[in-house]
Amino acid sequence: MRIVVTVGGSIIIKNHDYRRFKDYADVLKDMSAENEVFVVVGGGKTARDYIGIARELGVSEALCDDVGIDVTRLNARLLIMALGEDAYPVVPHNFREALEFSSSSKIIVMGGTEPAHSTDAVGSILAEFVGAELLINATSVDGLYNKDPNKYEDAEMFEEVKPSEMMKLMSSNNIQAGTYEFFDMTAIQIIKRSSIKTVIVNGNDAQNVKRAMTEKIGTLIVPED
Ligand code: UTP
Repeated sequence: MRIVVTVGGSIIIKNHDYRRFKDYADVLKDMSAENEVFVVVGGGKTARDYIGIARELGVSEALCDDVGIDVTRLNARLLIMALGEDAYPVVPHNFREALEFSSSSKIIVMGGTEPAHSTDAVGSILAEFVGAELLINATSVDGLYNKDPNKYEDAEMFEEVKPSEMMKLMSSNNIQAGTYEFFDMTAIQIIKRSSIKTVIVNGNDAQNVKRAMTEKIGTLIVPED
């Protein structure tokens, strides 16, 4: 099975702890024994810090995004280092390269591609591009909630959700992009148009990514009727 895993920067670079990369490397190696695995790594706080400085320097938003992309690629390089021989040694800068490098049968690890979206969007486009059967999104909460679970005690997690429901949620008052770990609109649109089976799991435990292949865990994004 072809699988795309997106790992939020807030997960992998949390506390700048190398063991996070090791844990993910172990799980991804395990998964790659019987699957073709592609990974997209986010930028997390490091990206936001760099973007903040760039913004204060007065450059365009697109250039700020570009700095963020560089950080995601740095994180991707660290994961490649943790994976060693099992990873393709170069970070693809676009989807064609990702597909090209995958002929090596190694785990492909990339970061962002171009400005104006997040690595969630990169993950969904990559899943579409390579024809992945499963997209797993490792984030910092247990799944998708109706409101920010870090702020609201009564936030409820969806076991299943349709892309159209996610779009409605995004335009409601409760959730705005950037207020908590949430898919960006581009990602939702891609998942919707190609009916990509997608699972959102808590990536604080790297094993959850593997569990998502066989167990009912987190939030499953189901196709529209
Ligand atoms: P992330 O995807 O990491 O953003 O990219 P995020 O939403 O902060 O997610 P976490 O915290 O990692 O989970 C970091 C920034 O890099 C730019 C955007 O500015 C984004 O906010 N970026 C990333 C792009 O412009 N294009 C990309 O393809 C990827």
